[in-house]
Order: sequence, then C-alpha cells, then structure tokens
Amino acid sequence: MSKIKLAIFDLDGVITSTTEEHFKAWTLLFIKHFGIRLDQDLEVYTKGVSRIESFKILLKHSKVDIDDMKLIECLANEKNEIYKELISEFNESKICPGVIDVLNFLKQKNIKIALGSASKNAPYLIRSLKLEQYFDYIVDPTGKNSKPAPDIFLDAVNHFGYDPEEAIAFEDAEAGVKAIKNAHIFAIGVGDEDLKDADVKFKSLTDLKSSILENIIRGN
Ligand code: BG6
Ligand code: MG
Repeated sequence: MSKIKLAIFDLDGVITSTTEEHFKAWTLLFIKHFGIRLDQDLEVYTKGVSRIESFKILLKHSKVDIDDMKLIECLANEKNEIYKELISEFNESKICPGVIDVLNFLKQKNIKIALGSASKNAPYLIRSLKLEQYFDYIVDPTGKNSKPAPDIFLDAVNHFGYDPEEAIAFEDAEAGVKAIKNAHIFAIGVGDEDLKDADVKFKSLTDLKSSILENIIRGN
C-alpha cells in the first residue's frame, strides 16, 4: 500500500522549460519602459515567484521606484502579453524529459495528480502540452500568497482532504521547495539549482527511476 495519495507538480521548470521566456519578457519590458538591460543573474530570484512579486524584485534590484500599484499591475500585464506571445507555439515537444514516465507511473498507482504552479498561464500551457488528462486538479494561484508561502501546495492537499504527509511535490526553484517544506510536504527537487531544502534532488526527472519513486510513495 502506498502511503502517498497525491503528487503535486510545479509547472515552469519541472513540466516545461519557460524560465527563458519569462525572463525574456521581463527584459523586453525593462528595456522599453526604463531603458534598463536586466542582468541575467536576476533570473533566479523570479523563479517560482508570482508575477507581481517577480516584478517588485526586479524593480528593487534595478533601483526603479514605482509606488502606484495600478501602474505596477498595468506593466506586469504588459509583460504577460509579451510572455504569452513567446509561448504561443508551445506543444508536446516542450515537455521536459522524464515527465510523461513519472506521470504514467503515478496514474498506474492511483495517485492523484495536481498542478501547484504560481503561474496564471498554467491551464493554457497544460492544454498546449496536451497534458490535461493527467491532472485531477489545478490550483488557482489567484489571491494566494506567493511561494515560499505554503498556500498553493496546501490548497492542493486540502482539495482532496488529505494530510500533507500523504503528498509529495516536485519543484525546480528554491522559493518553491521552501513552499513545499513550509507545507510539511515531501519535496522532490528537480534541475540545476542547489535546492538544499529538498528531501531528494534529481538533475532531471529521467534520473528518477521507478524503483526510487516506488520507495518514495511507500514512505520509505
Ligand atoms: C512561476 C514562474 O511558475 O510563475 C515565475 O517560475 C512566474 O517566473 C510565475 O513569475 C507567475 O507566472 P505568470 O504566468 O502568472 O506570470
Ligand atoms: Mg518552477
């Protein structure tokens, strides 16, 4: 019997690689409105973090002061229009390696699958990638505290009426892993970041062999 009943996936950087597109959209916005070329090193601070929070972080690092919340929202919407254009051609070929095998394994074990992304574009991307059939629930990040707050992951767990100990979650970003741990969920780190708070970490989901996943879902 598996102890784990629910697997929650981050989207950007776990299921598909959109980090470049998100940051390119911010870069184009900052050049257009502030004449500032964003340093590539800033990208990491926006990973996993909501649109508005990401914008505030980039403004702070660029020493641009905007107090008017309406203007912040308007510019963040403009970034989103640029971003949507950049991801408009996304299809199944953009699914990260190993994702389908892990999803199939979880389905076969009757484990519920949820999407716990900070992105309001997540439902659109899941449709573009043709992955809708795998997801039992997609968290709506609207009105929830941005990762590293646990809200998004707790929402998924609460939706099914499970305990955090009955879930596992996949994340590529430090803010995301912190959010998982703040929700008291088992954290599986994916990708190139350090992710020192993750319970286990894999460079790619192709490295997560089914025997390892079997042990994780049994709670071993
Ligand atoms: C996260 C990304 O998944 O979603 C962040 O890692 C992004 O970079 C955030 O800011 C919000 O995304 P969106 O699509 O709602 O602007
Ligand atoms: Mg991510």
